[in-house]
Amino acid sequence: IGVFTFDPGYGETASCESQITYIDGDAGVLQYRGYPIEQLAENSDFVEVCYLLMYGELPTTEQLAKFRDGVTRHTMVHEQIRNFFNGFRRDAHPMAIMCGVVGALAAFYHDNLDINDAKQREIAAFRLVAKVPTIAAMAYKYSQGQPFVYPRNDLSYAANFLHMLNSVPAEEYKVSPTLEKAMDLILILHADHEQNASTSTVRLVGSTGANPFACVAAGIAALWGPSHGGANEAVLKMLAEIGDKSNIPQFISEVKDKNSHTKLMGFGHRVYKNFDPRAKIMKETCHKVLAELGVTNEPLLELAMELEKIALEDEYFVSRKLYPNVDFYSGIIQKAMGIPTSMFTVIFAVARTIGWISQWKELIEDPAQRIGRPRQIYTGAVDLQYKDIASRG
Ligand code: CMC
Repeated sequence: IGVFTFDPGYGETASCESQITYIDGDAGVLQYRGYPIEQLAENSDFVEVCYLLMYGELPTTEQLAKFRDGVTRHTMVHEQIRNFFNGFRRDAHPMAIMCGVVGALAAFYHDNLDINDAKQREIAAFRLVAKVPTIAAMAYKYSQGQPFVYPRNDLSYAANFLHMLNSVPAEEYKVSPTLEKAMDLILILHADHEQNASTSTVRLVGSTGANPFACVAAGIAALWGPSHGGANEAVLKMLAEIGDKSNIPQFISEVKDKNSHTKLMGFGHRVYKNFDPRAKIMKETCHKVLAELGVTNEPLLELAMELEKIALEDEYFVSRKLYPNVDFYSGIIQKAMGIPTSMFTVIFAVARTIGWISQWKELIEDPAQRIGRPRQIYTGAVDLQYKDIASRG
């Protein structure tokens, strides 16, 4: 039968070597290619971060211009892709649409794709990073019964995404610089996070030699769950259910009751046992965005801050080292930006696409890579004798 190391949830297992993202969970450190997330959030923009993640260095002016051009030339989707949307119900969750339509990109670009050719890998990366926001915006527009909005390549990545989400053709939509900056920051903070569940999924699928569009679609599916990227949507639902500060103690006791299966969404992390540095930036941004939007009294933010304060003083959370993670505040910012709750995880997927494709590229280029194939501890029966159906029971 064989004896293997038993590591449910892979808490103690390194599945690969990587040079992309560094986390020190005890110190609350996150770095992309060695650069602290705080510095990138302050000084960089999402496309520059994409370059950094993909190629390992910050670009020169020329390299960045070429890279931007490479991304923007792929922002349109094939007209046939429009037809996919008609097959979905209008109330379909946009993540369901994302799983299907991003996977379907393989049907358009798979046939001649040689994953062993560096140039073709790069074009696949451009296609994914460029088309995922277009598809995400189409999923939203479809749910609203509004016409699709074509991408504008004269805008920044973040502004173009907001343009595609918000424009109504009859009137000229002007992207507010505050919203553009906030969207850019959300994208930077979610761009990569080493071997989380969705990235590990992308790598596992990629290890079989599957095409990158299928790999990223698998990543989107893994991201959807509420323990992972779906948490941002779940945080808002949780806050809405709590409703009022006076209900927090009751909610906290429910979380502490093991039989309730209720979790404090947006809290806890497998790796961060101090604080999630992304949550810190997100919280500051949340205050800034609300102030710039002129929102002086946002009851959800006040409720979230009170909930955080009570949890951080509670022995249950302190002893388990549970701190707010990136999802605790990201939903509140997105809500203030006018983004519907069902799009929160989709925006996470748009941001994480560069992380997935960079990790996929690293995997394919790693000479030590081989098919991912965990073993198991078999606990079932063995060597039974087949019984005729008449003699069972
Ligand atoms: N609320 C209440 N209790 C919790 C929570 C929480 N959010 N998170 C962990 N615990 C408890 C857990 O029940 C366990 O208690 P005990 O030792 O008594 O059994 C202890 O803390 C250790 O937790 P764990 O289950 O071993 O932690 P994990 O590393 O397996 O899970 C997690 C990590 C993120 C899935 C979990 O903390 C969680 O479900 N959090 C809520 C969902 C969430 O916010 N997810 C977003 C994560 S960050 C962004 C991303 O990855 O996409």
